Amino acid sequence: GQARKLQAMLESAVDAIITIDGRGIITTVNPATARLFDYAQDEFIGRNVHFLMPEPYHSAHDGYIANYRATGTRKIIGIGREVTGRRRDGSTFPMHLAVSEFEMDGRVHFTGIIHDLSGQKATEQALRQAQ
Ligand code: HEM
Repeated sequence: GQARKLQAMLESAVDAIITIDGRGIITTVNPATARLFDYAQDEFIGRNVHFLMPEPYHSAHDGYIANYRATGTRKIIGIGREVTGRRRDGSTFPMHLAVSEFEMDGRVHFTGIIHDLSGQKATEQALRQAQ
């Protein structure tokens, strides 16, 4: 059925896929999220998504979501942005973030798709230094 296909897609995705509720609380993550940030999959659930980012994002992120919900002004949804993520050990890495919005049981939720750019950035740097 469709649910099993969706499950297989999430399990095999290379990119990290995270869903949050309207207040930024994580409701699901796929296995790629666990690999990228170095936590077990169940350690994400129920935590505020801002634990995955360094300052100044960490302190500002609740406000970003609240601002979007109050004004409807999209800064990332449907646009995407290169931002910085934070792993379990505190190290940071460049990532591309895409966010979309959906409604479930009458409540707003968001899906974030994170593409790790650290390999790409390292290659670019090495190429520049070789010139
Ligand atoms: C907005 C950073 C992860 C959901 C934003 C903004 C930034 C940001 C900079 C826009 C602020 C503005 O210009 O007003 C980050 C960083 C992340 C991250 C550094 C690293 C982990 C996520 C994830 C989700 C998410 C995984 C969803 C699952 C949102 C939402 C908004 C937002 C809903 C408001 C809508 C919008 O501005 O279009 N975030 N974010 N964020 N983020 Fe995140």
